[in-house]
Amino acid sequence: MLERVSGSRFLRRRTVDRLLRDPLDWLWRAFHGRSYLPPYSMRQFVGGARDFEAAGVWFVDELFRLGLLRPGVRILDLGCGCGRIALALARDERVGALSPRYDGLDVDARAIAWCSSHIERGAPSFRFTHADVRNDSYNPGGGGAVAEYRLPYEDASFDLALATSLFTHLRAGELTRYHAELARVLAPGGALFASYFFFDPGEEPAARRPIRFEHPVDAVSATANPLAPEDAIAFRRDWLEGLWAEQGFGLAAGPFLGLQDTAVLCAQKPRNSEPSA
Ligand SMILES: C[S@@+](CC[C@H](N)C(=O)[O-])C[C@H]1O[C@@H](n2cnc3c(N)ncnc32)[C@H](O)[C@@H]1O
Repeated sequence: MLERVSGSRFLRRRTVDRLLRDPLDWLWRAFHGRSYLPPYSMRQFVGGARDFEAAGVWFVDELFRLGLLRPGVRILDLGCGCGRIALALARDERVGALSPRYDGLDVDARAIAWCSSHIERGAPSFRFTHADVRNDSYNPGGGGAVAEYRLPYEDASFDLALATSLFTHLRAGELTRYHAELARVLAPGGALFASYFFFDPGEEPAARRPIRFEHPVDAVSATANPLAPEDAIAFRRDWLEGLWAEQGFGLAAGPFLGLQDTAVLCAQKPRNSEPSA
């Protein structure tokens, strides 16, 4: 078992980027008509400043390709970060024509504040919520644990949930809790578009990605960084498949194996995820 080490290199890097990169990036964005993007330090924090916009557009195209965006769709973006997908949705005319409703939730107060003041203002059907739960890489000072956290949404209130590069930073118990909560807030027949790192013990290091998950966290997961496990966590595929089934999810498309492994899951029946006494 690995111990938690507080203080994330992600957060230290963001502080350095805020001081050194953001001022120049502000000029770059102004000069290139990209002032609608979040600052460099925030874009870098969610996986890459330079391809931030292209990645968001790619996700939206993928959601269309998979038939997940329909008129009036109610979207929950769990771990929305600084709005990589939200911005692409809000700026896409095809999406606008569908009159979607969007809710983003994240533990990163700074990212949520930016999204609220920059995206929500211009797109009133978009709403952002801060969840003060702990994640050693992204919110080490967080007050609560995911295991006891109830998403602040009604049962069956969404048609589509997104969790991109989120379950790659959580522990097994946290994944269990969030899948149960997603099963609760998704309407029957709703879809969960989620990415994971799969790993199969004994398999050759996956050629498809540069990260090696060599350090066991527990019986079902492993990390690339034993000092800060939440930086990147992979889960046994058979355990994930059991979790999906246990929480009433069926596999609707995928899994698509890649740098991260993506699956579209279908919520089959309404759930009540209150922890049992
Ligand atoms: C790699 S970023 C991905 C952000 C976004 N999903 C995207 O694809 O651009 C991971 C995000 O998960 C958030 N996060 C970490 N733990 C979380 C939790 N327990 N609940 C919600 N969000 C969390 C982080 O703050 C961060 O914004």
